[in-house]
Amino acid sequence: MRLPDRVLVTDVGPRDGLQSEPAFIPTERKVAIVDALSAAGVGRIEVTSFVSPRAVPQMADAEAVLARIARAPGVRYSALVPNARGAERALAARADELNVVTSSTETMNQRNLRMTIADSIAACREIVRLAAPAGVPVAGVVSTSFGCPYEGPVTVAQVFAVVERLVDVGVSEVSLADTIGVANPRQVEALVDAVRARWPTLVLGLHFHDTRGLGLANVLAGLQAGVARYDASVAGVGACPFAPGATGNICTEDLVYMLDELGVATGVDLAALIAAARLMRDAVGHDVPSRMLRAGPRPQLPAAS
Ligand code: COA
Ligand code: ZN
Repeated sequence: MRLPDRVLVTDVGPRDGLQSEPAFIPTERKVAIVDALSAAGVGRIEVTSFVSPRAVPQMADAEAVLARIARAPGVRYSALVPNARGAERALAARADELNVVTSSTETMNQRNLRMTIADSIAACREIVRLAAPAGVPVAGVVSTSFGCPYEGPVTVAQVFAVVERLVDVGVSEVSLADTIGVANPRQVEALVDAVRARWPTLVLGLHFHDTRGLGLANVLAGLQAGVARYDASVAGVGACPFAPGATGNICTEDLVYMLDELGVATGVDLAALIAAARLMRDAVGHDVPSRMLRAGPRPQLPAAS
């Protein structure tokens, strides 16, 4: 099996994971989770989003979280922004990278961002223009790349139309997101191969939700297709509040366990990551999908004598 030697794991738990938690999680707990992820060696952390606090009350403390985290050398701290106002806030708070989202379908884009796809792309252009002088890269996310809760199946042409515009705007990388967890490994391979063939030098990432249990199978398909960037959420928390029935991202510690077992380097210390997952579980105060929290990593059996 041919796989990349090394993968960049981005933990999106503090943002995608927490954004739909109904009870407000105190800022210090969010900071402690981010710091624990840094200590575990996670390469990139999506710390928060600079969105309307009315749309997503959980992210109302975005400035405070970014101000209080302990920034570890080599770790990139990113934030999601929907518009120029969000970009200005995130840049003032010294986010290392910005993430912009556009959906592959008009209905999802309307529900999530209250904008047409064209308006969303115009916002991305403005965000790239604001971030460029600060040397802050802007990554583009294509949500509902594998299926939409409102419009159903999504075609490669629909995804291409958004990727094309994001590339034109000047994003640093593009992530294909399975917002509602309907992708399957064959579909992942086909979409990745198609995007790769059309944009051979584009930096590509994958963002899976484990809604129907195919999350890690989809990662394996992505790895075999050569993709070396994956989003995941510590403890497996999360659901998109604008996508009915959506559940958590793939779980970061379960992903790192699989990559460790496959011999793919991540730079992440699994035991330290599991400690971060405990903090996340305690912060949300309910059961979480993490297999590693339940079973622990493979037992270290004593050598046979
Ligand atoms: N930060 C803080 N406040 C913001 C903001 C930002 N980036 N952008 C807009 N606002 C405020 C406006 O000031 C306004 O506040 P007011 O009602 O007190 O006057 C309110 O939000 C609505 O602004 P408006 O420009 O009319 O936007 P909207 O109601 O059409 O909503 C978004 C558009 C994009 C701002 C909003 O839908 C949003 O923040 N969505 C985030 C969705 C999200 O995080 N999805 C996550 C999954 S990708
Ligand atoms: Zn997501």
